[in-house]
Amino acid sequence: MMKKIAAVTGAAGGMGRAIALQLARQGCDIAALDLSDQGLAELSEAVSALPDAPAFLPLECDLTQPEAISAAFTEIDRQFGGLDILVNNAGTCFMSDFPDIPADELDRQMSVNFSSAFHCSQQAVKRMLTREGVKKIVNISSNGAYNFDVFDPPHYRASKAAMDTLTKDLARRYARDRIAVNSIAPAMTETPLFNVLTSEVLEKAISAMPHGRAMQPQEVAAWVGFLASPAGDISSGNVIILNQGRDVR
Ligand SMILES: NC(=O)c1ccc[n+]([C@@H]2O[C@H](COP(=O)([O-])OP(=O)(O)OC[C@H]3O[C@@H](n4cnc5c(N)ncnc54)[C@H](O)[C@@H]3O)[C@@H](O)[C@H]2O)c1
Repeated sequence: MMKKIAAVTGAAGGMGRAIALQLARQGCDIAALDLSDQGLAELSEAVSALPDAPAFLPLECDLTQPEAISAAFTEIDRQFGGLDILVNNAGTCFMSDFPDIPADELDRQMSVNFSSAFHCSQQAVKRMLTREGVKKIVNISSNGAYNFDVFDPPHYRASKAAMDTLTKDLARRYARDRIAVNSIAPAMTETPLFNVLTSEVLEKAISAMPHGRAMQPQEVAAWVGFLASPAGDISSGNVIILNQGRDVR
């Protein structure tokens, strides 16, 4: 089987690092995009420590800048010569609340969470069209787009809902080109993003998790790995909710 090439955005963060390592363990060469060059350097070490370590390409870039995204994908072409898997994971959660969300915070929220994924997908699809087999785009969404009991502010929810609509559009648009596009929408997962919450909000949200604990980044990464594997070939256009069964009605 041909070696797969995967790009992971926000790869220096909690979830992104786990996803990059999961795909590296599955034998993919990894292009890792993030703002944090230090985080990328740490990830590079972790990848090279794996048995049969795949190739690793750190790409320090600001994903709110379409030109920076374009340059990063050109570098992926130069180093790896193609792309089979894209995981749009970079994101953050700004915590101002309605009706006092500053205009520039709304713009930044949409830009980091949604536009980054949109631009990366445009770059990725062009490259995937010439690749063999079933190509994969996995968008890391959030339960916040669907559960209105939890704390998430509306601009965060909307950025993830927009992402999930992109998932469905691309899934339909590229089904016959064998590009499978899915979202994974996790609930509370223990990463540095927890730092945006007060300890009170965090405690309440974790205690609402049916297993009495937050989910771990590796648990979410395993689902990304499943979608990226041949088992994931027949899923496209789905939003997979991971929350220990919290919101079942
Ligand atoms: N942690 C959770 O409970 C949770 C729940 C649902 C969804 N998510 C989603 O999971 C994804 C990963 O989040 P995480 O929990 O690992 O958070 P994190 O803060 O640990 O990681 C986010 C990463 O994205 C990078 N990033 C942010 N802005 C960027 C930019 N402009 N350009 C390049 N890189 C940028 C950061 O440097 C960081 O490494 C996010 O999209 C988040 O919305 C997280």
